[in-house]
Order: sequence, then structure tokens, then C-alpha cells
Amino acid sequence: NYYAILMAGGVGSRFWPVSTQEFPKQFHDMLGTGDTLIQKTFNRLANLIPEENIFILTNERYNDLVLEQLPNVTKRQVVLEPAMRNTAPCILYASLKIKKENEDAVMIVAPSDHWIEDEQSFSNNVQTAFEYCESNDALMTLGITPTFPNTGYGYIEYDKSSTKEIKPVNQFREKPDYETAKSFIDQGNFLWNAGIFMWCVKSVISAFKSNQPELFELFESGYSAYNTEFEDDFIRDNYAKAENISVDYALMEKSDNVFVIPATFDWNDLGTWGSLYDKLPKDGHNNAILNAKSLAENAEGNIIRANKGKLVVIDGLNDYIIVDKDDTLLIYPKGKEQNIKQVLQRVKKKF
Ligand code: GDD
Ligand code: MG
Repeated sequence: NYYAILMAGGVGSRFWPVSTQEFPKQFHDMLGTGDTLIQKTFNRLANLIPEENIFILTNERYNDLVLEQLPNVTKRQVVLEPAMRNTAPCILYASLKIKKENEDAVMIVAPSDHWIEDEQSFSNNVQTAFEYCESNDALMTLGITPTFPNTGYGYIEYDKSSTKEIKPVNQFREKPDYETAKSFIDQGNFLWNAGIFMWCVKSVISAFKSNQPELFELFESGYSAYNTEFEDDFIRDNYAKAENISVDYALMEKSDNVFVIPATFDWNDLGTWGSLYDKLPKDGHNNAILNAKSLAENAEGNIIRANKGKLVVIDGLNDYIIVDKDDTLLIYPKGKEQNIKQVLQRVKKKF
């Protein structure tokens, strides 16, 4: 009864110019290991879940990329979205499809673009969650010990008095402002949301029904068409009507049956060039070099990525992102990496 939905519809715009709308980061070998991020995630899930029960949720424009990179996946497993509406609509839609196939399904929802170090610990945490969710109406999260007031994550306040591995959650807060994030961290019983969720299909659908009645009505109205020849037409006519909202705001902040397992594995969401830099091997001067030959003199803390083993020579440059890709060369301070999203907007406007 184990199922997975792998979310692979994001654009990863802070990884521009490597990640683009046509070819987002989950389809790149960002770590230089030979596998793309979606391949790594698929393999990680396949340790726990029958491969035929792993569904890939993505925008229809990435269909070919998915089939190319995961050649054993069938058409049934690729759920295509005709519009970008963030994670809540696609999770609800896929959950209804899975429910129609198997009412007793227990599932994991996972992003396709994260780095996880210890696969065995990951499997153990998920197994624990699955066993709990099989017999409890619970929305389970995995929590990461926070290291700084990152405003790009969700925060999970767990019950301090609990000595169990699975802890009840008092509060889930998505992307708080800096001051709030800081106060959360000072309180000590807050974890970052890893963005990985586990629940039984009945629980998640009933959570949508009570917290997002409109969204629920919209997708429920197509139930008879799902997994039949009428599905495509229904989705084409209706998907774009869905509200653009993430599952964090739509369900996690609103539900009172949220639980958390403090993760026992190392995690990194590979959200920016800086977080990728942290995970890459370095040369003698802390420069991380991917797909390039490099002569870095008087230069430290840079991340250098080029194509086809290009030679890159730098001198006197510290803590920069240097990315050479076809018709774009980015040389940008690592400290301002969050701004790359906006830079891309300005570039698009100008050229
Ligand atoms: N199929 C599909 N469709 N996938 C999507 C869509 C969509 O419209 N939008 C985003 N995704 C995928 C992304 O590719 C990514 O794998 C995952 O869903 C999460 O989306 P992000 O856009 O990366 O979310 P976030 O980073 O802002 O926040 C989430 O992750 C954090 C941890 O990395 C939240 O869950 C936070 O609470 C969490 O801390
Ligand atoms: Mg993310």
C-alpha cells in the first residue's frame, strides 16, 4: 500500500543560468555525481516503495525530460499539470487519483531536488512515519534542526514534553519574517520543515476537504474521470481554475493533526548556489569546481561551474559564483545569491 509522489514542477530560478524554465534544476546533475537530482530522489524512494507506485508530478512541459531521465516509468506514473499552481493543487489531484486506485494507500510526498546524506536513516524515519500513519489520522512531517533564521523555510513547533520519536506539533508556520524566525530558534523547540510529508491518502484528502473546501470541490468534481480516458479533458478544462497555493499554507498551517519526526539524516535543500557550494568537495583554497579545470590564485570560497571541462583562471576573487553556460556567464557575489531570482527577471525584461 505504499505510494510516493515526487514533486518536480518547480523552476529553481535561484540556480540560473544553469536552471531555467525550460530545464529546471531537478533535471540537472547539480552535484556532479553522474545522476540528476530527480534520478537520485527516485532511487532513494525506490528503496522503500514499489517503483510502479512512485508518481512524478510535473508541468506538462517537462514530460519529455521525465521520460528521458526515468526511462522505466510508465505514462500512468507521470501526472502532468497544464498550469503552474504550486504544490497544494497537484498534491490534491494526485492523492485523489491514488485513492481511486487504492483506498488504503499510505504515501510520502517528496521534493525532487534535495540532498540527503544518509539514505538508511532517511528510510528508517519514513518507515516509522508510515507505520504511524497507517493507523492514525496524522499529517507527518520531517524536521531539521535549524542553524540560522532562514526565512525561506517552514517552522515546526513541537511539544517539548514529548519524549517520543514522533512528536505532536503545536504550530506550523510557513516562511516567517526574520524576527519571528529568530525568536523561534531562540525558543529551542522549533525545527525546519524538510518539505517531505507522509500520510494516508484518506487523511490528506479529508484535510483538504476541511481546510480548502473550494480546491477540494474543484478536484473532487473530476473524480469519476480520473484514471480513465476522460481525465485529460477534465484536467485541461479545470486545472488552471485552482488557487495558486503551497501545501504548507493550504494544509500544514491549518491542521491540528500535524506530527513531526526530528530527522536523523543530514539534509540540504540545494536551494541556492551557496547551499550547493557547501555540499561540494573543495580545492586547497575552499573553491568548489564543477565540470571545469581551474587555476584559482589568491582566490577563496568560490563556486566555479563551466561546461565541457572548460579552463577557468581567476585571481583575487573571493566568495563568488562563477557559472559559464552557453550564451550566459554569471559572476556574482555569493553573499547576494538570493537576488539571482530578481536579476533573472531584469535580464528577461532587458534582453
Ligand atoms: N509538480 C509541481 N507543481 N511541483 C512543484 C510546483 C508545482 O506547481 N511548485 C513547486 N514544486 C516542487 C518544487 O520543484 C520542489 O521540489 C517542491 O515542489 C517544493 O517547492 P519549492 O518552491 O521549492 O518550496 P519552498 O522551498 O519555497 O518551500 C518548501 O520547502 C522548504 C524546504 O526546502 C516548504 O515546504 C517549506 O516549508 C520547506 O521548509
Ligand atoms: Mg525549495
